[in-house]
Amino acid sequence: TKVAWELADVNKGEFAHYTIKEIFEQRTSVKAATYQEEHKIKVFCDTIAAAGNIIVTGSGTSYHTSLITSMAGCRALKKRFEPVMASEFKYNMDSIDKDTVVLAISQSGETADVLSATKLARAAGAKILSIVNVSTSSLARAADVSLAINSGPEIGVAATKSFTGQVSLAYSVLDRISGGRIGFDRDAVSDKITKMLAGSAAIERLVNVTMPKVNDIYLLGRSIHFPIALEGALKMKELAYVHAEGIAAGELKHGPLALMDKNAVVFVLNPDDKTYGDTLSSAHEVKTRGAKIIGISNVSNDIYDAMIEIPKMENELLYPLVEVIPLQLFSYYLALRNNVDPDFPRNLAKSVTVK
Ligand code: AGP
Repeated sequence: TKVAWELADVNKGEFAHYTIKEIFEQRTSVKAATYQEEHKIKVFCDTIAAAGNIIVTGSGTSYHTSLITSMAGCRALKKRFEPVMASEFKYNMDSIDKDTVVLAISQSGETADVLSATKLARAAGAKILSIVNVSTSSLARAADVSLAINSGPEIGVAATKSFTGQVSLAYSVLDRISGGRIGFDRDAVSDKITKMLAGSAAIERLVNVTMPKVNDIYLLGRSIHFPIALEGALKMKELAYVHAEGIAAGELKHGPLALMDKNAVVFVLNPDDKTYGDTLSSAHEVKTRGAKIIGISNVSNDIYDAMIEIPKMENELLYPLVEVIPLQLFSYYLALRNNVDPDFPRNLAKSVTVK
C-alpha cells in the first residue's frame, strides 16, 4: 500500500522551515491521531486490558511518550506499566514472558533499537503492539496490531507533531479501556493548542528580547511534567545546540542545585495541580541562587522573571499536550537566534536505523 500523503504536506507553504510548519500542524494533527479503524483499535485495547505485564518502549522523543503513556496507564488502568528505553531494552529482559505486552512507539517505525527490542521481546513470548506515524514501516509490520497517528510526513529532524500525536493516541486508547479516566477530548485539546500557538510572537520576543545570552538551561517538573522537562531539553539541544537538562524537581537537592547560579535559566513546569506547591519550593531554591526563572503555568506568581501562560486543563494528565508547545517554539526561535538550521541539526538523522 502507498502512504496517502499529499504533495502539499511536504512543501513548507507559508512557513520558513519544516519545523515551524510541523509545530503549527499540531492544531489538527492531535485530532487526526485519534481517527482509527474500529476493529484495529478494539483488538489493540483488548490486548492491553488483558495483559499481565506491560512494557512501553521507544527512543528519544518517543521514549518521552513512553514515560507519559506509562504514568497515565498506571493511573487510568490501575496496573503497572513499565517504561524502558529501547537502547536499554536488551539488558532488561528478565520479566518478559507470554503474559507481557510490549508497546513500541516510534514516529518512523524504522529505529533500529526499537525494532531490535520488539524482536527480542517476541522471541521471549511477548505480544507486540506499536504506535507509528509511518503505517508501512518495519515496526508497523513487526507488531501484532499497529495504530498510526496520521500526522502526515514529519520532515524536520526534531520530532514535534509526532510527539503530541503519539500522546493523543495513547490517551484515547487508555480512555477507551478505562471508561474515560483521562478525559482526553480531541476538539478541546486542539483548541487549546491553537491558542498556545497564537502566542508564538511572545515566545519569539522572550528569546530575542527578554532572554539574556544563555549557555545553560534547566527544566524542572514533577510527575507527568517530568517527561516534558526531558522533551523540552531535548528540543533545545538538538534545535539550538544549547546545553539543556530536564530535571525531576525533587532531585535538585540531590546534586543539580550545585549548578544553579546567576547564569542559569530555569523553566519551571508548574500548573496548579498536585505538584504545584512542591515545584514552587524548588523554584524558590533556584531563585535564591540567582537563577532566572521562566514559569509555565496557568497561575502567575511573583517568583517568575517571565511567565508563559497555559490554559487550565480538566485533568492534570492533559498538561503535557499544552506545555510542550511553548518549549518547541522556544527551541525553534533559539535555533534561529543561534543561526542554526532548525530542520537539519548537525550530526543527527531523522531516523536512526543503525544500533
Ligand atoms: C527527536 O526530536 C529526535 N530527533 C529523536 O530523539 C527521535 O525521537 C528518536 O530518534 C526516535 O525516532 P522514532 O520516533 O522515529 O523512533
